[in-house]
Amino acid sequence: MPRYQQIARQLKQAISDGELAAGSRLPSSRTMALELGVARATVENAYGELVAQGWLDRRGQAGTFISPSATTGANNPASVASHPQGAPRPFQMGLPALDAFPRALWARIMGRRLRLQTRYDLVMPEAQGESTLRQAIAEYLRFSRSIDCQPEQIFITPGFQAAMRLVTHTLAKPGDGIWLEDPGYRYVRPVFDDAKMALHPVPVDDEGMQIEYGIRHFPNARFALLTPAHQSPLGVALSLPRRRQLLDWAVSNQSWLIEDDYDSEFRYHGKPLPPIKSLDGPQRVIYAGTFSKSLFPALRVAWLVVPQQQVEAFSRHTHLLPCTAPLLIQQTIADFLREGHFWRHLKKMRLCYSQRRVWLEQALQQQGFDVVPQAGGIQLVMRVRGDDRGLVAKARAAGLAVQALSDWRMVSQGEGGILMSFTNLTSQGMAQQVAKQLREAIT
Ligand SMILES: Cc1ncc(COP(=O)(O)O)c(C=O)c1O
Repeated sequence: MPRYQQIARQLKQAISDGELAAGSRLPSSRTMALELGVARATVENAYGELVAQGWLDRRGQAGTFISPSATTGANNPASVASHPQGAPRPFQMGLPALDAFPRALWARIMGRRLRLQTRYDLVMPEAQGESTLRQAIAEYLRFSRSIDCQPEQIFITPGFQAAMRLVTHTLAKPGDGIWLEDPGYRYVRPVFDDAKMALHPVPVDDEGMQIEYGIRHFPNARFALLTPAHQSPLGVALSLPRRRQLLDWAVSNQSWLIEDDYDSEFRYHGKPLPPIKSLDGPQRVIYAGTFSKSLFPALRVAWLVVPQQQVEAFSRHTHLLPCTAPLLIQQTIADFLREGHFWRHLKKMRLCYSQRRVWLEQALQQQGFDVVPQAGGIQLVMRVRGDDRGLVAKARAAGLAVQALSDWRMVSQGEGGILMSFTNLTSQGMAQQVAKQLREAIT
């Protein structure tokens, strides 16, 4: 958990426990930062988060106060009214459009599934994941991503990190090197740290990861993890020549490529490049997908497609790391896919996101911001000059859940950026309002 969230959590706890009384004033962010030995921006972020959730009030020069109604922790009426638990905050990344998910249909399918279950559904589920779901995913991948695989090659996992843990347990040894995109998806790095692997940052440019650089600096790495469809967070696609170069390197070095295809469903113009897995004659690619973006993240369901020769090794490791997604959830997803609802949902969401993206892009441009054009994905990057962390701290203090590109970097230096999502901006007016708030917060 990032430090600012830890601080926010401690403060909430102290308020709920009555250690901090409603109406009392908090130390200034500068004093608190000195007290805790952290950067001032970290405290600003924590305060900003709690203001957005209704726990704290900012009263200009007078300081930051515990909100008078913030006395009952999670049941705090102020926070429930102004920010119900789980409600998306403006620009919040990593969430699909929560308003557009067909919950009534989902509930019907799940209810029917529950009624159809027999006593045999009460036994321990398959450690590799429910076979009907694996079958449905294999069919989906064949049609949508030209990936030819058998259900036995699919391993369902409780989220992407768990998928990466299964990979490291099965294939990695301490000291093994892994290429990671820099900047790149920051939340997965702890898994490789935990496996005592050597993390090798490889810079990203307009064509995606610089494979040449990886080969030159870390030729013997045993793994490379990439987001080829839309690089996370920059949104560029890995070019076809680089895909070939990468695959050639993996074959000659006997290394494993991990293709994280987390949101490839969302592309708004142009024909998508084929996934590396679809070019994987030599069987060096481990493909990772998730339902977090295409359905919703609370499911905690992701999957791996592993090379046929590795099925047995992965299977052995599922005894230690079994699929813990509830059977009913897995069966419901399988029905949702097999009955065609998934296709329809994706089609609807592509339209919805392309509209919301345009709203936000236009609104940001009207405020004079420099938006980086992207062909797909569900987040945006804005170029900024100077210290992006400082700007983001200001925005967060105003309750806006943007992130700094610098926080996604490992060692690379480059221009600053602000990362954000548009998925939950439900109208053009709302997009204009949050863009204006962002301008006011950071100017
Ligand atoms: C780059 C990237 N990979 C994978 C995932 C999927 O994570 P999970 O399946 O754990 O929700 C995400 C989700 O935000 C992501 O941004």
